[in-house]
Amino acid sequence: MKISKTMASTINKQISAELSSAYLYLSMSAWFERENWRGCAHWMVKQANEEIAHAMKFFHFVVSRGGIVELEALPKPKSAWVTPKDVFTDAYEHELEVTKLINILVSKARKNEDTATELFLTWYVDEQVEEEDNTLEIVTTLEKVGDSKNGLVMLDRGLGKRE
Ligand code: FEO
Repeated sequence: MKISKTMASTINKQISAELSSAYLYLSMSAWFERENWRGCAHWMVKQANEEIAHAMKFFHFVVSRGGIVELEALPKPKSAWVTPKDVFTDAYEHELEVTKLINILVSKARKNEDTATELFLTWYVDEQVEEEDNTLEIVTTLEKVGDSKNGLVMLDRGLGKRE
């Protein structure tokens, strides 16, 4: 069964939201580069790539169900923060917002009795649990590290190893 216009248009908005996430994480990466936290900058580029992959998964889903993909303009992302902890706190809060969007999508799929979309979305529901956990773990570590330069350097090194 072809995807309905309503569902396709809702997923189109989510494609833009995922690409906006990528844009935000790239902006965070640029800030880390400016501040010379190369490991954090690397982690954010990897995160941005994941968001593009999320967008593309939606893109192919709409196409494979006979829907039309229509991209929207992306808003300019925030580009200045004060500390690495501020950046990761924003990233965590951003992920909480994305989770809300995914949950709204699930509700819409149910309301439209679109089982294929509802089942497809379970991957994103699981992914959001992971995304929230990953970012919150870094925020918690940064809280423990406080102002310790050594602690920050160690964390930066660790984040630089993200594959
Ligand atoms: Fe695509 Fe980070 O959620």
